[in-house]
Amino acid sequence: MSAVSCAKSKQQHSANYDLVVSQLLAQMTISEKIGQMSQVNGAEGSIPDDFAAAIRDGKIGSVINEVDVTTVNELQRIATKESRLGIPLLIGRDVIHGFKTIFPIPLGQAASWSPDVIEQGARIAALEASTVGINWTFAPMIDISRDPRWGRIAESLGEDPYLCSTLGTAMVKGFQGNKLNELGSIASCAKHFAGYGASESGRDYHTVNIPENELRNVYLPPFKAAAEAGVATFMAAFSDLNGVPASGNKWLMNDILRDEWDYNGLLVSDWDSIKQLSTHGFTEDDKQAALMAIDAGIDMEMASPTYRDHSESLIAEGKIDIAHIDQMVARILTLKYQLGLFENPYTCAEQLPNIVNEQHLNSAKDAAIKSCVLLQNHNNTLPLSTANINSLAVIGPLADDGYEQLGTWVFDGEEQHSQTCLQAIKKHVGDDVLVNYAKALDNTRTDNIEQINDAVALAAKSDVAVLFVGEEAILSGEAHCRSNIDLPGKQQYLIDELAKTGTPIIAVIMAGRPLTLAKVIEKVDSILYAWHPGSMGGPAIADLLFGNAVPSGKLPVTFPRTVGQIPLYYAQKHGGRPVSDDSYVHMNDIPMRAPQTSLGMSASHLDTHFTPQFPFGFGLSYSKFSYTDLELSAAEINFNQTLTITCQLTNIGDVASDEIAQLYIRDLVGSVTRPVKELKRFKRVHLLAGESKQVSFELCAQDLTFYDRDMKLNAEPGKFQLWVGGDSNASLCADFHLLANN
Ligand code: BGC
Repeated sequence: MSAVSCAKSKQQHSANYDLVVSQLLAQMTISEKIGQMSQVNGAEGSIPDDFAAAIRDGKIGSVINEVDVTTVNELQRIATKESRLGIPLLIGRDVIHGFKTIFPIPLGQAASWSPDVIEQGARIAALEASTVGINWTFAPMIDISRDPRWGRIAESLGEDPYLCSTLGTAMVKGFQGNKLNELGSIASCAKHFAGYGASESGRDYHTVNIPENELRNVYLPPFKAAAEAGVATFMAAFSDLNGVPASGNKWLMNDILRDEWDYNGLLVSDWDSIKQLSTHGFTEDDKQAALMAIDAGIDMEMASPTYRDHSESLIAEGKIDIAHIDQMVARILTLKYQLGLFENPYTCAEQLPNIVNEQHLNSAKDAAIKSCVLLQNHNNTLPLSTANINSLAVIGPLADDGYEQLGTWVFDGEEQHSQTCLQAIKKHVGDDVLVNYAKALDNTRTDNIEQINDAVALAAKSDVAVLFVGEEAILSGEAHCRSNIDLPGKQQYLIDELAKTGTPIIAVIMAGRPLTLAKVIEKVDSILYAWHPGSMGGPAIADLLFGNAVPSGKLPVTFPRTVGQIPLYYAQKHGGRPVSDDSYVHMNDIPMRAPQTSLGMSASHLDTHFTPQFPFGFGLSYSKFSYTDLELSAAEINFNQTLTITCQLTNIGDVASDEIAQLYIRDLVGSVTRPVKELKRFKRVHLLAGESKQVSFELCAQDLTFYDRDMKLNAEPGKFQLWVGGDSNASLCADFHLLANN
């Protein structure tokens, strides 16, 4: 391979590339244009002759999954020096929650409710990915996810449009930096447009049916926010949305994304999703699939070759207008200019920070600390103190597994950089506490219980047992969905047996989704939900267990009691017969032969309580907080005014801690019924023990808008309720009115 020059760093550019792009387009043949619209898979560190020839002939616009920097630089050299027009390549890769330094899974990061944590994680991922020449990642995944059976909930930022929009845009900012052409910035991608998270029964790739009003009010807002935040690219979903698969959905891609939102970034298909239009039964063959996707405006095809194989004949037959193709290619070329690739397509790792450096690891640890959610803490079992215990049993299949703690979608993360919980606990306690370790189960799924007795014996002779259970990384993520979301395998049996010892038990749960924990809760003292915490999961969790750090994460998604409650999310509609404590009846309490309409008659299940196991926004601390003195700057606002909401937040416990204060509203009457609560603002506030701070939020009419029956975005005058508190059950409440425009 030839040497490349890295001397020149990327130069600043003016934002407008229209002229250079149109000049370049004017020189391109149809075949070169179609080439730009094709993304092909890399060859894992090699460049076969036909691959090099295709680049030389201008038949490839982007390469996905090549992470060997020498190979990437050589690909760029061939593209820029040996092809007729010297157009550089987009180099794409799924960098989802870190490149080599792995951060918590996105759902875990979302539990930090911290845009700073998310932005920093994405920045570090971008810096590290840039060292091998990646200039485009396929993140953030901002599909609203309300079904924990769906494996991809792990990659999501949770169930709420506002939280997801806020964190999703922070991630875009982290990846893209201030400018795309700055060293260490990479293009990001809002995916999967749209509605993919609503796959029926939580089965990946399955049908999605979402009424337009719900689509606009719930599923589209994070995408609109990403577009407004300048996300460089969008990805079409695999799914069939209301009968029209996204990759051929002109209404979604053209009418909404391009026309309504005025988005002019690059739109890429998902892997083979254009070819799959025929598998869906939406098109007859590859040629028709290419036609539908081009017509919908999908600029670049990922993996499958339908554009390469059929576009030229579709143009020749007059089925596709070349002006339409030019627009699509222009968007691809514009991104290449924006990234500074025409000035310097090469990568010099030396110009970038080292991968997995100390600062990156510290940030990953901070993210993991802020992502863990304390769900239960009976008798203040946590934090542990080395002064009070002589022995500690560390038990479970995930206690010492540096690979599994990384979670799903980690193409480039390496176990060697992980620090496990067992390692970190041993380091923390030193010689002060005897650590008794037993894996107990070979993995989370096994039915083999041979090692359990030994583990139970260890727990019995220890002062406290810390149990690391959950799901291996492969049990969540793409195509890894579950119909039963209890702890898999014999882990519940392990917990039941350990509980019999009487030793206090702390369960640290690592999982890619909310699990149903009803049977766990009864048997253990404390539960720390750690998701898959990434490379630094061990030290982060050890700090939390021993009180060097205080849990502050809050659930970005509702935890159901049982799978039968799904979908279960806090922002549900009120309905005509809402359930309440007064109307709720459990089937065990129904007298025999009770008359049909004598009791119940409200929206609930007979065999489980109507509330979730843990509500959205919930998370405990080692401290406690009180919310008082709620005040509104006005009882009424008009469309031009701002409402200021203040309350007093006090740390009434005895340790310093962060609290995430949350503001919810309810629009009491709407031309389209409104959710019982909607998150509108949140703030992470640090409070010393005993400290009190005034927390203030601002809302204006814009924050009260929703898509009405005519799919128009409006705020409707009338009465609103508002709550401030530490989770979606917040009870400190006030009313205000939005006045009609005169
Ligand atoms: C996933 C995308 C991903 C793409 C490229 C697909 O299977 O749905 O999210 O970006 O593969 O790896």
